[in-house]
Amino acid sequence: IREKPDNVADYVANYIKKRINLFSPSEERPFVIGLPTGSSPIGVYERLVKMHKNGELSFKHVISFNMDEYCQIPQDHPESYHTFMWNHLFKHVDIKPENVHILDGNAKDLQQECLSYEEKIKSVGGIELFLGGIGPDGHIAFNEPGSSLSSRTRVKTLAYDTILANSRFFGGDIEKVPKLALTVGVGTVMDAREVVILITGAHKALALAKCIEEGVNHMWTVSALQLHPKGLIVCDEDAVLEL
Ligand code: GLP
Repeated sequence: IREKPDNVADYVANYIKKRINLFSPSEERPFVIGLPTGSSPIGVYERLVKMHKNGELSFKHVISFNMDEYCQIPQDHPESYHTFMWNHLFKHVDIKPENVHILDGNAKDLQQECLSYEEKIKSVGGIELFLGGIGPDGHIAFNEPGSSLSSRTRVKTLAYDTILANSRFFGGDIEKVPKLALTVGVGTVMDAREVVILITGAHKALALAKCIEEGVNHMWTVSALQLHPKGLIVCDEDAVLEL
């Protein structure tokens, strides 16, 4: 627990820097990281970019897999997760473009796209660290309430609450928010050797309480973290109000 979102971002950015630097000194041992979008990770990405510019951190040996992507909007849409990731992180660091993986929400065959994504993750030896955020309903990636806790990468219809929450990025117009997305499954996230979840703000306090003080529950999909051997939640003081 850290005081403010900025302190959470400091902690997590330093943590990731240390993990990448210790793990991945050479090309032979790339660091495979899972990454989220949303407002929660923005402070972390800002700090990682600064560390890169100061010469403290390189992404030369980092391979990334993003959690999710909208369907029904073009890849270069200002609110696509492709655009988000390039603007907030990738274009500012030395990651090799061929090492960036983001689901293609416009693929002709969406199911095949999801299967290939799982295969790609396997082919690089699995994910070392999956960073995530959560929705106020406790969803991780786009694994909406009711998702199977063993789910894999797939097409998902977004819950009304998520559409409503994300409408703030689409001029407040819920009609403009895509209703379908591709997302890694809860099982895909939990397969990572380490999972780090960012939770900030009073609007996530109920989800945090459900996640850690109640049983593992598919209605609060982040609660699957209880079963993970190396799961870490980094939250601010507002998020612990219901504990
Ligand atoms: C979307 C994303 C999630 C993210 C959530 C919360 O639903 N698919 O991965 O965790 O938003 O976003 P924020 O951090 O803006 O609250």
